[in-house]
Amino acid sequence: MSIEIRPVAGALGAEIRGVDLSRPLGNSASAAVHRAFHDHLVLFFRDQRLTPEQQMDFTRLFGPLAVTPFVKPMDGYPHIVKVLKEAAERGISTFGNSWHSDFTSEQEPPLGSVLYALETPEHGGDTMFANMYAAYDALSDGMKRMLEGVKAIHVGKPYGTKYGPPRTMKTSTSIEIARNLPEADREVAHPVIRTHPATGKKALFVNPIYTLRFADMTEEESRPVLEHLYAHAVRPEFTCRFRWTKGALALWDNRCTLHYAVNDYDGRRRLMHRTMIEGDRPV
Ligand code: SIN
Repeated sequence: MSIEIRPVAGALGAEIRGVDLSRPLGNSASAAVHRAFHDHLVLFFRDQRLTPEQQMDFTRLFGPLAVTPFVKPMDGYPHIVKVLKEAAERGISTFGNSWHSDFTSEQEPPLGSVLYALETPEHGGDTMFANMYAAYDALSDGMKRMLEGVKAIHVGKPYGTKYGPPRTMKTSTSIEIARNLPEADREVAHPVIRTHPATGKKALFVNPIYTLRFADMTEEESRPVLEHLYAHAVRPEFTCRFRWTKGALALWDNRCTLHYAVNDYDGRRRLMHRTMIEGDRPV
């Protein structure tokens, strides 16, 4: 069966048809999927039936498996995290429910991530994605010049002692996330404009979950420009939205996208298995 690549929006995202991810892809299919990954930044596959081992094998096609920091892995699988919200968990905050690129608080943030749907609500619980090449390209020349060579400080805000959510905030008990960890307060500097190592293209690389301020500036001084960039980055024209179905799998490139898990499915269960690919230091 030949591979079909169907873009889902103008900005990014493509659905890949004619691929069974439970089996080795073979050289030409693997090359086509890698090309599509660089062309479309986030790939969607439907109607897959994957064991945890098969999901890990697919993830490894893009690089070594990364351990997800601050989140308890699935029993027996140190590289898989269960992203679960139970039907009974109402009015809580959920994992990934703000625009972000994964774990940019790490020195070497993950290159990409894979999310596989085992149980999905009939409606709701979509994931949104935004294209950070497009966000960079659409900045004014003046803003591009101003940000060139500038670094931003990233911190594991949700997991640390200084910037974490208030203790009164109701969070899911179905996913064990570390809170109040002093080591998550560690500051890491990354370029605000990063160059993708494979495509050579420039992408905006800040996000509201992990970015704290510009290097050598206060939070107060940084806030107006960062707030502008966060709003600019997710203009509808730069985004796509994926409606999950059981057996669907998404693979995204954290170096040039942001994503947002929409938390609009109270009263319905959603269960996903999540893996990540090791990345390198942003330049
Ligand atoms: C995440 O990886 O940020 C969660 C995405 C989702 O659950 O849709």
